[in-house]
Amino acid sequence: MKNSKIKVGVLGLGTVGSGVVKILSENKDGVEEKLEQPIELAKVLVKNLDKQREVELPAGVLTADPTELLENPEIDIIVEVIGGLEPTKDFVVRALKADKHVVTANKELMAKHGAELLDLATDRGVDLYFEASVAGGIPIIRSLKESLTANRIEKIMGIVNGTTNYILTKMTQEGADFDEVLAEAQASGYAEADPTADIDGYDAAYKLAILAAIAFSSRIDINEIYLEGISQVPPEDISYAQELGYVIKLLAIAKEVNGEIEARVHPTMIPKEHPLAAVSDVFNAVFVEGHAVGELMYYGRGAGSMPTASAVVADIIDVARNIIYDANTRIHCGCQEAKALMPMAEVESKYYLRLKVIDKPGVLSAVAKILAENEVSIASVIQQGEDGDAVPLVLITHQVTEGDIQAALKEIDNLAEVKEISSLIRVEDQVE
Ligand code: HSE
Repeated sequence: MKNSKIKVGVLGLGTVGSGVVKILSENKDGVEEKLEQPIELAKVLVKNLDKQREVELPAGVLTADPTELLENPEIDIIVEVIGGLEPTKDFVVRALKADKHVVTANKELMAKHGAELLDLATDRGVDLYFEASVAGGIPIIRSLKESLTANRIEKIMGIVNGTTNYILTKMTQEGADFDEVLAEAQASGYAEADPTADIDGYDAAYKLAILAAIAFSSRIDINEIYLEGISQVPPEDISYAQELGYVIKLLAIAKEVNGEIEARVHPTMIPKEHPLAAVSDVFNAVFVEGHAVGELMYYGRGAGSMPTASAVVADIIDVARNIIYDANTRIHCGCQEAKALMPMAEVESKYYLRLKVIDKPGVLSAVAKILAENEVSIASVIQQGEDGDAVPLVLITHQVTEGDIQAALKEIDNLAEVKEISSLIRVEDQVE
């Protein structure tokens, strides 16, 4: 170890950076007691030196020049909490090439470039830790990499986006529609002014790519993850879901099936009794199934200054311990394989299907016939209410392939009695 103190440089002093600085100062004694070594916040990179800050820092710590951190021979650990890819990727590469350990909270960076950055870190003999990149304060990455390492992970299902969980919770509780709840969420600060990455599912897909890579020891191409956001979930489906004993959640799902990986993000119906169904508002949770341990669920805050900083500082402490005991790179990325991602058409699921049909005898049997011809077996049917001359027809299928249900839907769409295919929502129930 080159210093008698562990010296840390933080890139960014926004929401997460401020939390990191707060924990490192408020809980300095606790951290140092655990480390048995002093730790010093040496430099913090900001864009604007004159901006008023909610955290106080000793003179000389703030700088607007990244080289004061990235080329500072005194600094052991660089913490990246700027977010996005530019200029962060360049900063992280420069830090790793300068043989500095890196802790990042950046999901987009790790989902898109994690493999190459982890390879670079291994080549340089330094650590690259990223606990805060998935589900904020929930220690899911460390759990998968360390606590669950005896297991073959079979399935991960996560509520990993707080914004969409908040919106779906409000839609369920208030019977309100998506646009109304989104506007209210933006006004109260629960949704970004530009919520696209959250509501269209990209944010959850980044997190799923990271989790699945670790869980299944494979590189995951983010572009191959099937993605559907929540903007098309109407209140009618939320109330049918309730009637049928389900809750709709935006789930990030990954499974390993016969050596292939299934990875998808979409609105999903889960039984009301499932532990994930009780995860409300902005909370996150990750449900894991391991062959030895069985079912587990990790629950907590997936965003916010202090919860995210809790994960960042835990990484700093872990890296610092590795420095002290000369044990850096002891845990590899574990994503060395290149398993194929299962094409969506081959993925199996149960489905909820809502149609608008003309209310006359024989319609249900015509729909059922097409489903049967396409190997889609029906588990239950609801038909009620009136909507002019058209009525809703709601079906839940047994476990079928996406390819078969989509083929059936093409034919159903051609039936004169079917006015509209209103919704198709995947159902994660007990697998038959
Ligand atoms: N926008 C994210 C969410 C925050 O809503 O969960 C952390 O990634």
